[in-house]
Amino acid sequence: MTKTPPPVILTGDRTTGPLHLGHYAGSLQNRVALQHTHEQYLLLADSQALTDNAHDPEKVRRNVFEVALDYLAVGVDPAVSTICVQSLLPALAELTLLYLNFVSLARLERNPTIKDEIRARGFDRDIPAGFLCYPAAQAADITAFKATLVPVGEDQAPIIEQTNEIVRRLNRQIGRDVLLEARALIPRVGRLPGVDGRSKMSKSQGNAIPLSASDGEIEEAVRRMYTDPGHLRASDPGRVEGNVVFTYLDAFDDDREAVAHLKARYQRGGLGDMALKSRLTDVLKALLGPIRERRSELKRDPDFVMDVLRKGTRKAQNLTAETMAEVREALGLFDLRAS
Ligand code: TRP
Repeated sequence: MTKTPPPVILTGDRTTGPLHLGHYAGSLQNRVALQHTHEQYLLLADSQALTDNAHDPEKVRRNVFEVALDYLAVGVDPAVSTICVQSLLPALAELTLLYLNFVSLARLERNPTIKDEIRARGFDRDIPAGFLCYPAAQAADITAFKATLVPVGEDQAPIIEQTNEIVRRLNRQIGRDVLLEARALIPRVGRLPGVDGRSKMSKSQGNAIPLSASDGEIEEAVRRMYTDPGHLRASDPGRVEGNVVFTYLDAFDDDREAVAHLKARYQRGGLGDMALKSRLTDVLKALLGPIRERRSELKRDPDFVMDVLRKGTRKAQNLTAETMAEVREALGLFDLRAS
């Protein structure tokens, strides 16, 4: 009996900066856990990064390597996961161009993720066409790898929905299921808030803890962390909800019982912010220390990292070109081999 092949996962990150704790809680942990039971592809999404960073291609290029370091440092194993560079996969661009004919401009403009991102970036009336159309490009990413599972943050769910709409329209046009629909795999923990507690963790907001943070940087970030503004003395009762320190302990402290105890003490009164923060500092140092060390080891061995990217990209080139060929043929585009 032939074994059924493992489900295919594709996910990726725009290469606009090194990854941070929010990425770790949201998706990196998931990827490390899933890589042994799934066929996993990780896309260094430099083309997509250009859709809102065309003014700074140097940043986009530099961060391809940085994000690759982050992947490897957290435990993505290149022996089982494939890491590849988006802009080096021409089939993705070809598929994107086809898919743009199976989605309307109005539908792209209605995508809630795109709407939010346009607002956040202040694009207003000057939206790069590539940006508006990136859901079609992401549909190309996902379908080119024949992925059925896409681990992403909650905010990306509408992009996956739109991918599936394109898939259905194309399949309907062709008359059979050439492309596969995919499911978003949303992490159980919600978005990790930034250290200021105001919004999600993001480098551009200056409220992020990078995976490469030093012990000193961890201490400083936790010291600045938002707690309960009404909790002035250690003896005062404090609030746990909306208290970023507890949100982080919930996300990263494996000793659930100890955290439950701390919460009870904090709510009752008798636990100071200093003592509370000192526990989180220890937890984060223990988590990030080994990641930082592995990251700097890898940084000293760029040949190894480049080799991983070269092999991964080559494999992805073959796979995505195959899908493109299948779609060409299924759509019945002109073929020079036929007469
Ligand atoms: N849009 C994703 C982000 O904002 C990055 C990305 C590009 C992606 N291509 C993808 C995610 C394909 C999942 C699947 O980070």
